[in-house]
Amino acid sequence: MLIDSHCHLNFKAYKDDLSEVIGRCHQAGMKVINVGAALVSSDKAVELAIANDNMYAALGLHPIHVYDEKFNLVAFQDLIDNNKDRVVAIGETGLDYFHLWQCLEKGAGSIEEVKKKQKEVFVSHIKLALDNDLPLIVHGRNGKEDKTAYQDIYNTLKEAGAKKGVIHCYGGDIAEAKKFVALGFHLGFTGIVTFDKTGVLEEIVKWIPTDKMLIETDAPYLSPEPYRGKRNEPIYVRHVAEKVAEIKGLSVEEVIEISGNNAIELFNLK
Ligand code: NI
Repeated sequence: MLIDSHCHLNFKAYKDDLSEVIGRCHQAGMKVINVGAALVSSDKAVELAIANDNMYAALGLHPIHVYDEKFNLVAFQDLIDNNKDRVVAIGETGLDYFHLWQCLEKGAGSIEEVKKKQKEVFVSHIKLALDNDLPLIVHGRNGKEDKTAYQDIYNTLKEAGAKKGVIHCYGGDIAEAKKFVALGFHLGFTGIVTFDKTGVLEEIVKWIPTDKMLIETDAPYLSPEPYRGKRNEPIYVRHVAEKVAEIKGLSVEEVIEISGNNAIELFNLK
């Protein structure tokens, strides 16, 4: 089954035509996980999951928002308790070393302080996931020079005893990819696979065991070819499947079937 394991129909980018976008998801017969980045967007993801039986929600405070609001454990736990089977993951959470300077503008004293804060909030998400036996949706991004985000994510997951989840929109190297998979994590691939020229992602897609791969759009961002530069939406995840199929020497239908089953199992989609 075609599943977009990570998108944001809960974001403002869809405010004018959300029902049309949702209609196209229904028409494609697909399932969609809408991922929260703060409390308001997490709430909205739950609303969408209640209104649409092919949609599910993930709850979290994105690392770039840790200076915009506090991690509200009580509110997130309430959303989980009141919406069993609709809330399927905790995230997105993780470490983002690309946007550290933005947090400095929001009042953080130093880069080290921002990193410490991101890690603290990340650990709170991991505990929430463990307490509720939910998988994590992990965001990672290296800085232009600082390439340590993924190793810090790995160490944090390991130290905190995290058990399951996805490193979404995977952007680390292959050595790090192998460590995440050995830890039991899945890797998520976006439209970037359709235009990445570095060869790194291709090598990782070729290597990854099929039972650990997920496909996603991260819509409204990261539109695949041939939609680059336009707003992304869940139905375009098929283009990610096509490219993954080409790299792995599988048929598109096989990739849709396998990655769909992986998502159903990891997120326990009902
Ligand atoms: Ni995202």
